[in-house]
Amino acid sequence: MKQGTFASRPRKRRPKKGAKSPQDGRKIDAEVETIGGQGDGLVHLDGALYFAPDTVPGDRITARVGAARGGGHVLEDIVRHEDGPTRIRPFCGHAGACGGCVAQHMSDAAYRLWKVERIGEALTRRGLGDVEIEPLVTTPLGARRRLTLSAVRRGGKVSLGFNARRAHRVVDLEGCPLAAPALCALFAPLRDLFAALAREGLALDKAVQVLLTACDGGLDAVFRASCAPNLNMRQRLVDFAARFDLARVSWDNADGAGPEAIVVHREPYMTFAGTRVALPQGGFLQASAEGERAITAAIARRVGGAARIAELYCGMGSFTFALAQIAPVFAVEGFAPAVRALERAAGRAGLGGMIRAEVRDLDRAPLDARELKRFDTVVFDPPRAGAAAQAAALAHGAARTIVAVSCNPATFARDARILVDGGYALQSLTPIDQFAYSAHVELVAGFAKK
Ligand SMILES: C[S@@+](CC[C@H](N)C(=O)[O-])C[C@H]1O[C@@H](n2cnc3c(N)ncnc32)[C@H](O)[C@@H]1O
Repeated sequence: MKQGTFASRPRKRRPKKGAKSPQDGRKIDAEVETIGGQGDGLVHLDGALYFAPDTVPGDRITARVGAARGGGHVLEDIVRHEDGPTRIRPFCGHAGACGGCVAQHMSDAAYRLWKVERIGEALTRRGLGDVEIEPLVTTPLGARRRLTLSAVRRGGKVSLGFNARRAHRVVDLEGCPLAAPALCALFAPLRDLFAALAREGLALDKAVQVLLTACDGGLDAVFRASCAPNLNMRQRLVDFAARFDLARVSWDNADGAGPEAIVVHREPYMTFAGTRVALPQGGFLQASAEGERAITAAIARRVGGAARIAELYCGMGSFTFALAQIAPVFAVEGFAPAVRALERAAGRAGLGGMIRAEVRDLDRAPLDARELKRFDTVVFDPPRAGAAAQAAALAHGAARTIVAVSCNPATFARDARILVDGGYALQSLTPIDQFAYSAHVELVAGFAKK
């Protein structure tokens, strides 16, 4: 093979996902300047960028330079000599250690500003910085109705909780102030259950997950492990469900076949705009009822007067039933069990004439201009990766109004740019803080055809 061809070039070694980069080890003194997108304080020193977790602007610190990450280095063993003016005392004793929250140490005003600026910065990077961003809509403590806990055994003791920040270590928790009390009440019993499952043969040297949902129709638990449960493990799960009144317990052994129901005492369901929808195992659900209500209201006030609505990435219908009170809805979603649940619920509620649903991969087969002609209004709520292909098709469509829901300002800004370049005006944006104290922020935005 000739020198210089692609095949003869020495391969760059990529670090394995999750692999630790080498520690730098130097000590630095610095003052924190601002807050970055992941909630770390940012420091620039001698042309280099450093991330200082759990700090605020004005904090004076001494720290050790740790691993390289995201164009800079993470600071470790941080000692604060002086506190910045926006620092407050976190309300949870696990703040700093637990990876679930990154911003409990910020004053309310600084926190709100940081969340909204995350959206503003993403828009500015795409040349859309002049849109009006409304005040942040917040959700209360204790509102999270869905969470994923990890369990792992170290030295004979089972830890159960969330992962530590930037680490696979599990922080052992008795509860979480952000989570619904019904979920917190399960932390200790679940820890005991995992210990019992380990005695029955479940390997807990690597973390095993359980997805908990406090549904309108009771508690739902989906265990996620790399093996199927044996008979004794199944019995433990059945006993646990009976003792703690779980509506349903399922097990997903990552073989691609989806979760298997181990025990169903009653069907877990959610109620959307008065209609009951059976919860498909592992299907998407907004993290809190308050967040869902805020998003639904923000959509509804942008689609008033719609004649025919296309709702893309509809899940099991969190917004569909509210939209169907305005106009007929064509709802599209890639996860088939969610579409089946939505269709069944619509049929039972006598809404078959108002709601039609389709299973479709919108990344591979977005609704095209011909199909979009039938709708004057489109609502889309894609996963974190956004909806680049669908946005490109929408940009050439004729919908009068487009409403975007997003949990990722960066991909939203990319898709918004596509729509604006296609002749839409980005009119208004509502930020919604559904994942309080994390680096995530949701938004609802309205576009109008110019
Ligand atoms: C952020 S969730 C929103 C769901 C729904 N709007 C809700 O609020 O409950 C994104 C949805 O997009 C679906 N999805 C992901 N990739 C998809 C694809 N390529 N095509 C269609 N749907 C997809 C997921 O299954 C999920 O239900």
